[in-house]
Amino acid sequence: MKVLIATDKPFAKVAVDGIRKEIEAAGYELALLEKYTEKAQLLDAVKDANAIIIRSDIIDAEVLDAAKELKIVVRAGAGYDNVDLDAATAHGVCVMNTPGQNSNAVAELAFGMMVMAARNMYNGTSGTELKGKKLGIHAYGNVGRNVARIAKGFGMEIYAFDAFCPKEVIEKDGVTAVDSADELYSTCNVVSLHIPATAETKNSINYALVNKMPKGGVLVNTARKEVINETELIQLMEERADLKYMTDIMPAANETFAAKFVGRYFSTPKKMGAQTAEANINAGIAAAQQIVGFLKDGCEKFRVNKK
Ligand code: 3PG
Repeated sequence: MKVLIATDKPFAKVAVDGIRKEIEAAGYELALLEKYTEKAQLLDAVKDANAIIIRSDIIDAEVLDAAKELKIVVRAGAGYDNVDLDAATAHGVCVMNTPGQNSNAVAELAFGMMVMAARNMYNGTSGTELKGKKLGIHAYGNVGRNVARIAKGFGMEIYAFDAFCPKEVIEKDGVTAVDSADELYSTCNVVSLHIPATAETKNSINYALVNKMPKGGVLVNTARKEVINETELIQLMEERADLKYMTDIMPAANETFAAKFVGRYFSTPKKMGAQTAEANINAGIAAAQQIVGFLKDGCEKFRVNKK
């Protein structure tokens, strides 16, 4: 059996070593495709792979067509919007993710960006503190829960909205569960986004919603760029010079944001939330173990596509 790691954005070497150990202990072979620049390289590498470990790499029908021997794809991470689930099902390929394995890393980066915004992008002027400010967590999944845990250390007042998470679950963590996204944005000085990119959430962070934020509001996005209505956010930030947007996922309109909103817009050059040795090890080794469990015992825990 051949397991391929196909990562445009490579794991830390220590994580690749750990994955190799798991794969070879199971009697399988490991192949590595990192930092590829052309889709053709991916199409070529998947030809004889029985299993693939990916990150945000695109697995579409063309890749699945090329991967004639493929049985399973594991997205080492949470969001699997980069995989065509219907095409995988049609090709008889199982798709899994590794929920929770990289969520602390993403949550820590959200705070890195919150502090940066509160301290005026470290430009030397007097900023503000997070202590005592109201933090809104938009979606209370694995990352959202880690954000709540860290926010307690900062002494923030914590609110969350999640349409799919019972209020009791949120409130058990000492977090105030609000009834709507509107209420979250109207209440909070800082909103941290943790929603997945789905048909329902795409473009949902729009003018009307963000405009509910109080004066000096900061929007932090370590989720997905697709959830932002960029045209409307640009319009709003033109009208409201008090708002800041901090993102780990470079917008399509990055140049416009960067040119228009100097001092109140920041984007990492490449999605960095899960880019820590710990997250790479946790998610990468979980992916390897899930592949071994699937190929040896047929275990389908964490499967995200239909059969
Ligand atoms: C995820 O969905 O797990 C995160 O967005 C991290 O994605 P990455 O593996 O591409 O860094």
